[in-house]
Amino acid sequence: MRLRPFTLAAAALPFLAAAGCRSQAARHHAGTPQDPWVIGMSQCNLGEPWRVQMNADVKAAADAHPELRVIYKDAQNNSLTQRAQVEELVEQGADLIIISPKEAAPLTKPVAEAYQRGIPVIVLDRAVQGDQYTTFIGADNVKIGREAGTWIRETLGGKGNIVELKGLMTSTPGQDRHTGFLEGLQLDSNPGLRIVFTGEMQWLEPAARREMESALATNPRIDVVFAHNDPGAHGAWLAARAAGRETSMKFVGIDALPHEGQQYAAAGILDATFLYPTGGPEAIATALEVLHGRPVPKKIVLGTRLFTRANVAAGGQPIN
Ligand code: FRU
Repeated sequence: MRLRPFTLAAAALPFLAAAGCRSQAARHHAGTPQDPWVIGMSQCNLGEPWRVQMNADVKAAADAHPELRVIYKDAQNNSLTQRAQVEELVEQGADLIIISPKEAAPLTKPVAEAYQRGIPVIVLDRAVQGDQYTTFIGADNVKIGREAGTWIRETLGGKGNIVELKGLMTSTPGQDRHTGFLEGLQLDSNPGLRIVFTGEMQWLEPAARREMESALATNPRIDVVFAHNDPGAHGAWLAARAAGRETSMKFVGIDALPHEGQQYAAAGILDATFLYPTGGPEAIATALEVLHGRPVPKKIVLGTRLFTRANVAAGGQPIN
């Protein structure tokens, strides 16, 4: 199906924007099963299980609404590609855009431009800079990092050697998880805790495995590995197992997908993992509010849960 051209809404934009009717300007499909609203979903990559799950969650929620049609774009982990795809969605006449950006800085401008042209933009999981978007939906990554740091400090009894494998540090979850982790560790009041190795694995299991090989080579004693996501923690575990050292240390990750982190916890590979909800259902619910012209909060914060081997069968433990 061809999308209707954007021209009419664009021509009306200066007046509508001035009148404060930003979301009205973009509403150029009727939102009926015959003429559904078009949502453009810009995913930074589909190479990671968590992102495949996010798209599946968006699809399941959207499929229940015949008044919605979702166009999916996969930026294949390239910020420039993602920028071009956002611009394309604008030109194609999307009524609303959902974006899970790869990196904050390069995606800030295309998001702001779409928003300023009257297209509501929902930013999911990783943030952009500034406030030129409709709403941000995601879990509190500082809090999750802090919970991980607290769990490790308490589990080690305030003493031990720590490896931190960071996510992509040009993305906000990497920055926030690191900040929270240091807060939770309380290194100043726990001199027995030491971060002996830090690496950037960019969210990817093979990179985590390589970083962990360096950590193992230079540190005869490691007590715990904190990786910013479960693929990273699993990559570290693979490296430790190859060195015959996996039982001498603990592994902590983030994401807790049922078919990934939760299974690792059940199998005793991960000692702890924290749920990082995809926000897919919330994004569609919020999109519907916006498309109906109803106000939504600027930020929607999702909760987390702790999964360990002991509680995984019971669905983990909520963290408030
Ligand atoms: C997937 C992922 C998740 C992580 C999230 C952070 O791309 O790396 O594993 O929790 O992105 O944005």
